[in-house]
Amino acid sequence: MKPVLCVVGARPNFIKMAPILRAMAAHDPPLPAVLVHTGQHYDHAMSDRLFTALGLPQPVTNLEVGSASHTQQTAEVMRRFEPLLDTHQPSAVLVVGDVNSTLACALVARQRGVPVLHVESGLRSFERSMPEELNRVLTDQMADRLYTTEHSAADNLAREGIAPERVQFVGNVMIDSVVHGLVSASEARQTLRQWGANATLLDAPQGFAVLTLHRPGNVDDADTLRALLQLMGEVAEQLPLLFVTHPRTRASIRRYGLAGLLKHPRMVTLPPQDYLEMLGLVAHARLVLTDSGGLQEETTALGVPCLTLRDSTERPVTVEQGTNTLVGRDREAILRGVQAVLEGRGKCGKVPEGWDGHAAERIVADLYQWLQAA
Ligand code: UD1
Repeated sequence: MKPVLCVVGARPNFIKMAPILRAMAAHDPPLPAVLVHTGQHYDHAMSDRLFTALGLPQPVTNLEVGSASHTQQTAEVMRRFEPLLDTHQPSAVLVVGDVNSTLACALVARQRGVPVLHVESGLRSFERSMPEELNRVLTDQMADRLYTTEHSAADNLAREGIAPERVQFVGNVMIDSVVHGLVSASEARQTLRQWGANATLLDAPQGFAVLTLHRPGNVDDADTLRALLQLMGEVAEQLPLLFVTHPRTRASIRRYGLAGLLKHPRMVTLPPQDYLEMLGLVAHARLVLTDSGGLQEETTALGVPCLTLRDSTERPVTVEQGTNTLVGRDREAILRGVQAVLEGRGKCGKVPEGWDGHAAERIVADLYQWLQAA
């Protein structure tokens, strides 16, 4: 059997791919896989350490594309990825999520007549200004087999003219990783001590909140970021805040001279965390404030209230059924959300269908049949 060429590039891809590779190896018969890392994320904390934490095998190749404009990064992944199709002669290329590497490799495979499999298809924020939205729409147009995490995705795909027989609802592989990782998640106190951070923050009777920010719309503009960080200072007055920073955000804070806004007695700033450390922080948080897609899903699975600092979400099930509330950058809505949590009225929600830790097995069972029939 020819291998499936599996592509990862940025942090959320690693988290989604780990359970898929495990399920491919555990399938009877095993499905051969070749793992390729595009190198979109390259920091030790954003890449190498995550491989270990998630139990991902070492990739056969790292294309080392690094950072650049979206266009340059996408083009560079395409240029470096194409020869791998000759080397490995894959039966299909499997891509996950919505990062630039996802689109780049799907397009190369399509152009070379290799079937494309897309995991996490059909999510739509309906904001074409987001790079991820373009990546999602275009990747789905090119995919031969589309695996979805929530039922809203099938409607989006049907509206875009994608035949329903190409689409398969399987649930959420991100949650497979949560279920797998929870057993060995790090203790929050240990994580803070490890970074020399003030762990007494965790002793506050009201608990603590976790904050992450990295979307270009929130962190690339000086005024927007300043206003958001000032607002987060107000949140910290109510609920101690652990701010886990992304390299993109750190770079903006430095560039715009905003580091002073982080020096709040009830705010602790940490560098990017390993998966198991982050899981430990989030699982024990009273509240999460974020613009990440993955955290909206993880908090829903863990039953932790989440305030999403965006005006839209491509994951509506987290709002309709889960613990997520969209608050954008609206001061009143954010402070109201914090107050609700402090008063024990935080959103509890329920875990959506298929977010049960077995999505990767369902993907691999379908994939095996599909490859046999192809
Ligand atoms: C990318 C994804 C985003 C995903 C996020 C998770 C796209 C369009 N965006 O955003 O969907 O939610 O990853 O983290 O693919 N940088 C480093 N070290 C690294 C990686 C990045 O310092 O290892 C810095 C660089 O300054 C770089 C910036 O972060 O320019 C942005 O990196 P990039 O990969 O372009 O996008 P992310 O913001 O990480």
